Amino acid sequence: MILTVEPARSGLQGELIPPGDKSISHRALIFSSLAAGRSELSGLLESEDTLATLRACEQLGAVVERSDGKIFITGTGGNLSPPPGGQLEMGNSGTAMRLLAGVLSGQKFDSTLSGDESLNSRPMARIVVPLTLMGADITASGAGTAPLLVRGHGKLHGIDYVSPVASAQIKSCVLLAGLFASGTTRVTEPRLSRDHTERMLPLFGVDLPAPCSVNGGSRLTATRFAIPGDISSAVFALAAAAMTPGSDVLLRHVGLNPTRTGFLRCLEAMGADISIINQSAQSTEPVGDIHLVFNGGLKAIDVPESLVPDMIDELPLLMALAATASGITRIRGAAELRVKESDRLAVMAVGLQKLGVELTEYPDGMDIKGGEVSGGRVASAGDHRCAMSFAVLGLVASERVRIEEAEFIATSYPGFNTDMRQLGANMEELS
Ligand code: S3P
Repeated sequence: MILTVEPARSGLQGELIPPGDKSISHRALIFSSLAAGRSELSGLLESEDTLATLRACEQLGAVVERSDGKIFITGTGGNLSPPPGGQLEMGNSGTAMRLLAGVLSGQKFDSTLSGDESLNSRPMARIVVPLTLMGADITASGAGTAPLLVRGHGKLHGIDYVSPVASAQIKSCVLLAGLFASGTTRVTEPRLSRDHTERMLPLFGVDLPAPCSVNGGSRLTATRFAIPGDISSAVFALAAAAMTPGSDVLLRHVGLNPTRTGFLRCLEAMGADISIINQSAQSTEPVGDIHLVFNGGLKAIDVPESLVPDMIDELPLLMALAATASGITRIRGAAELRVKESDRLAVMAVGLQKLGVELTEYPDGMDIKGGEVSGGRVASAGDHRCAMSFAVLGLVASERVRIEEAEFIATSYPGFNTDMRQLGANMEELS
């Protein structure tokens, strides 16, 4: 599907509640499925990625019911069933595959985890290595990619794992395997990655003996969990408003976990007028409303490397924003972008250049010179976040922007086009 975006004739105006947080939704589904009893989940994201996790949870024995916009999950109490045919399909979702690989490594049955072309080309050695250290029998392809074959024997032991990468998927995978291992499992990472797993497990009755560690044999119990709006989706409307003269938008009920708010800090440093109001806590996460009023052009910044893990999924959007800011924006320390749903540095560099943006690509980042953006046709390479980043940039381009493979937006934000249109953007899907 091609998404066409027309240059905005007036500012974006209005209020939105972004869809439920994707990272938290995956975890809520998996933890509820492991728990004893019936959990109640509200605000769950129903996108292609999280529906892949939901289906897998059902195939592993959880019972899912829907009522009044909520999802009720009767968990397995830790006694998962082998999936039909031993196969689990994870689609495009790295989080689903890596977290479930941790769970499945601790079971007493065999299973195979596989995904779409993009997921089956992403690095899995980063989880195969620690799981093997725990005693798991898990094999990837020769290239270290999925399909992953897990031969469950139920005899894992805890480890003290020092992860070379700040990655919440690695951390969560190892901690979930640790629930089924003997002894204590602990993960240390070079910088704190998103900490939803550590925040959520105690609500499901799991005691963390120390930060980022679990005791083997800990049992999960059902709970009621309210999932906040996804800041990684809210940022598209915020960025669009920050670039488009006359804009005034309010994003309501957004998760504000400090391990996820790096983009807001950058947007402020670039000169945007943002205020956060109505702050409160919901289940395990801070939430609030974000108000942004257009206040003139943005200025370039050097993105501090320390902020990269806190905005890892927002960096493609920051590159789009930088294309309109005055001066040169520098991003470094972001080599992880090369192993996301696409090589996001390469996909954004090619697309931005097609739209007339001057930039230099580096192995771990990019320098982007802000200026005029032209119209044109760009490839999203089947990457939802690149597709939405180009769509936002299209609002300030001199002519229409066409984005290829925009159907992948449904991976994380199925209502993106509708929400952007509601704020006044002129976007159209062409099949
Ligand atoms: C996620 C962690 C991040 C992020 C991904 C979701 C998670 O990946 O990019 O979209 O839910 O744990 P890494 O942990 O590999 O950095």
